[in-house]
Amino acid sequence: MIELKDVNYRYRNRNALDNINITIEEGESVALIGPNGSGKSTFLKLINGVVTPQQGEYLFNKNKITEKKLNNSIFSKEFHRKIGFVFQNSDAQLFCSTVYEEIAFGPRQMGFSEEKVNERVYDCLELLNIEKLKHEAPYNLSGGEKKRVAIASVLSMNPEIITLDEPMNGIDPKGKKFLRDFMIKLNSSGKTIICSTHDFEYVEGVFKRAIVFSEEHKIIRDDDYNAVIKDEKFLVENNIK
Ligand SMILES: Nc1ncnc2c1ncn2[C@@H]1O[C@H](COP(=O)(O)OP(=O)(O)O)[C@@H](O)[C@H]1O
Ligand SMILES: [Mg+2]
Repeated sequence: MIELKDVNYRYRNRNALDNINITIEEGESVALIGPNGSGKSTFLKLINGVVTPQQGEYLFNKNKITEKKLNNSIFSKEFHRKIGFVFQNSDAQLFCSTVYEEIAFGPRQMGFSEEKVNERVYDCLELLNIEKLKHEAPYNLSGGEKKRVAIASVLSMNPEIITLDEPMNGIDPKGKKFLRDFMIKLNSSGKTIICSTHDFEYVEGVFKRAIVFSEEHKIIRDDDYNAVIKDEKFLVENNIK
C-alpha cells in the first residue's frame, strides 16, 4: 500500500532522505530505526503527505501522492482518513479544549452525524482507557495521558495505517508498557503500524520488520526486527546504540 521509488528530500541545504526505495504492505508492523538526524521523522512526514518528494515518487495504494492532489480537499480527506500520524510532540497535535472534543474532531471533519461521532469517541476512550479524562483539558494531562489522547484522536478516524514518531519518548515505564501492549493489539486487529523508535527495551514483540536509516539518510538495512536488534555490532557501528 506504501511504495517509495528513488525518493529524495532535503530541507534547504540539509539532506534528509537519500534515494529511498521501500514497499510496506497492509498489516505489517514496521520499526524505523537510525541515529538522530537520519531521516526517520522526515520519512513519516513524507508518507503522511506533510511533505512530498523532491525527486522520485510516493505511491499510496498505487496513487501517486503529489502536492497538487493533497491540495484537493476531497483527495486529501480521503488520504488522511486512511493513514494517521501520531506526532512525536503531543502538544503540537492537541488543540481542542477537552479530550472529548479532541477525539471528536476527526469524525466531525469527515461529516459524521453527532450520534456516530459520539459512538466513535466512546469506542476510542474505552480502547485507550481514558474515559475518566473526557472532560479534561488536554494541556493539563501528563505526557502519557496526552499520548493516549493523541492516539485516540487518530484512531477515531479508523485509519488503516497508524504511524507514530517516537511514541515512547518522555513516557513513564507504566505508560510505555501500556503503549507496547496497545500497539501489539492494534496490529493484531489488522492495522498496519509504522513507528520510529530507539527505545528497544520497551517495544519487545511489537515489530516484525525493521527499516534502518544511516547518518547519510539512506536505508542501510531492511530486515527482521529481532535480527536487527540482536546485532550489537551492527547497532554500535551505525551509532544506533
Ligand atoms: N524543519 C527542518 N528544517 C531543516 N532541517 C531539518 C528539519 N527537520 C529535519 N531537518 C534535518 O533533516 C535531517 C533528518 O532529520 P529527521 O528526519 O528529523 O531525523 P530523525 O527523525 O531520524 O532524527 C537532519 O539532518 C535534520 O537536521
Ligand atoms: Mg525524529
